[in-house]
Amino acid sequence: MTYMKILAIETSCDETGISILEIKGGIKNPSFRVLADSLNSQIKIHAPFGGVYPMLAKREHQKNLPILFERTLKKAGKKIASSAIRRRGGKLFDLIAVTSGPGLEPALWTGIMFAQELAKKWKVPIVPVNHMEGHILSVFGKQKGEFSIPKIKFPILSLLVSGGHTELVLSKDWMKYEVIGETLDDAAGEAFDKVARMLELPYPGGPEISKLAEQGRKTFKNLPEEIKLPRPMMYSKNFDFSFSGLKTAVLYLTQKIGKLNDKTKKQIATEFENAVVETLIYKTKKAIEKYNIKTIVVAGGVSSNKHLRKEIKKMVGLKQKILFPGKKLSTDNSVMIGITGYFRFIKKGKKIGASKIKAEGYMHL
Ligand code: KG4
Ligand code: ZN
Repeated sequence: MTYMKILAIETSCDETGISILEIKGGIKNPSFRVLADSLNSQIKIHAPFGGVYPMLAKREHQKNLPILFERTLKKAGKKIASSAIRRRGGKLFDLIAVTSGPGLEPALWTGIMFAQELAKKWKVPIVPVNHMEGHILSVFGKQKGEFSIPKIKFPILSLLVSGGHTELVLSKDWMKYEVIGETLDDAAGEAFDKVARMLELPYPGGPEISKLAEQGRKTFKNLPEEIKLPRPMMYSKNFDFSFSGLKTAVLYLTQKIGKLNDKTKKQIATEFENAVVETLIYKTKKAIEKYNIKTIVVAGGVSSNKHLRKEIKKMVGLKQKILFPGKKLSTDNSVMIGITGYFRFIKKGKKIGASKIKAEGYMHL
C-alpha cells in the first residue's frame, strides 16, 4: 500500500496519546504527515503520590481515551472525513498502532482494548508497538506537519533514558536491536524522580532537578567536597548502569545535612545531575568506540535534559551524527507509536491477529 492513514494510541504510563498520521510512499522512502496529535497528561493526578499509581492511571486512560479520540478526529477535520468517503467507503483508517509494552500493565490494556474495539468495528488491522522502539524512532518525528526519514549510517547506538528504562541499544540495520547495556536497578528517570522527592521537589522530578542544576551551575564555581556523590559502575567493564546506589548516597547526604535550604538543594541537584550525565556519557563513549558507531540516538523522557544534550554533543566527534527527538516527542507520545507501527506493519503485514495482542508489562526491545 502506498498511501495509508494510521491511528496511533499510547497508554503505557501516565500519558494518554492519540494521533492520526498519513503516510505516502513505500518502506524505502516514506513521507509522514501528522494530521492531528493529542496528549492528555495525568501528571497532576499522580503528583500527590510522588509517582505513577497504576490503577489510577488505568482509570484515567479509560475515561480519557474516547474523549481524546473524538477530539483528535475533530482536529484532523475534513482531511479525514473526505478521504474516508472517497477512498475507503467510510472506513476512517487503514491501520491502528497501539503500544503493547513495556509499561504499566493495567494502563497498557486500556489502549489495547480500545484499539481492538475500533479495529473490530472498522475491520482494519492492528499492530502492537514496542514503546522503546517508539522512543528510538521518535527522533525522526515531528509533532506537527510533514517529515520523512533521512538517510542513516549504521551502526546506530541508541541511549534510551526514560522513567522505566536506561538502555544502550545497538542497531546494525533497520529495526534490528541488540541491548548491549542496561540498568541493573533504577532507571535514570526514576532516579531523577526519587531524588527530587528527597529534595522536596514535585513529580516528575527530572525537569525540576534540571532547573535547579542549571541555576546551580551558574551560581557555584565549585561544589563543596561534602556534596560529592559517587558515579556507580562508571568504570565497570560492561555497558550496564546502576543508579540505586547514587540515589541512596543522596538520601544519606540529605540526612547528614538535615534541614535543606535553597543553596544545599541547588548544590545536590547539580552534583546529582552531573553524576548521572557523566555516567551515561562515559558508557556511551565506550560503546561508540567498541562498535564503531556512525549514528547516535538519544531518546526517552530524560533526553530532554539540557545538560545531557549539551555534554553528549560535546563528547561526540565529527565522525558521528547525533539525533534527539523534538522536545514534545522526548516524553511519551503517540506520534512515535504511529511511525513505529507503520514500519512494523510493512514488515509483518496483516499476519498479526488483533485478538492475540497482549500487554507486556516489563520487557525489552
Ligand atoms: O519517556 P518518559 O516520558 O516515560 C517513560 O517511558 O518512562 O520519561 C519520563 C521520565 C521521568 O522520570 C521524568 O522525570 C524524566 O523522564 N524527565 C527528565 C526531564 N524531563 C523528563 N529527566 C531529566 N531531565 C529532564 N529535563
Ligand atoms: Zn516512554
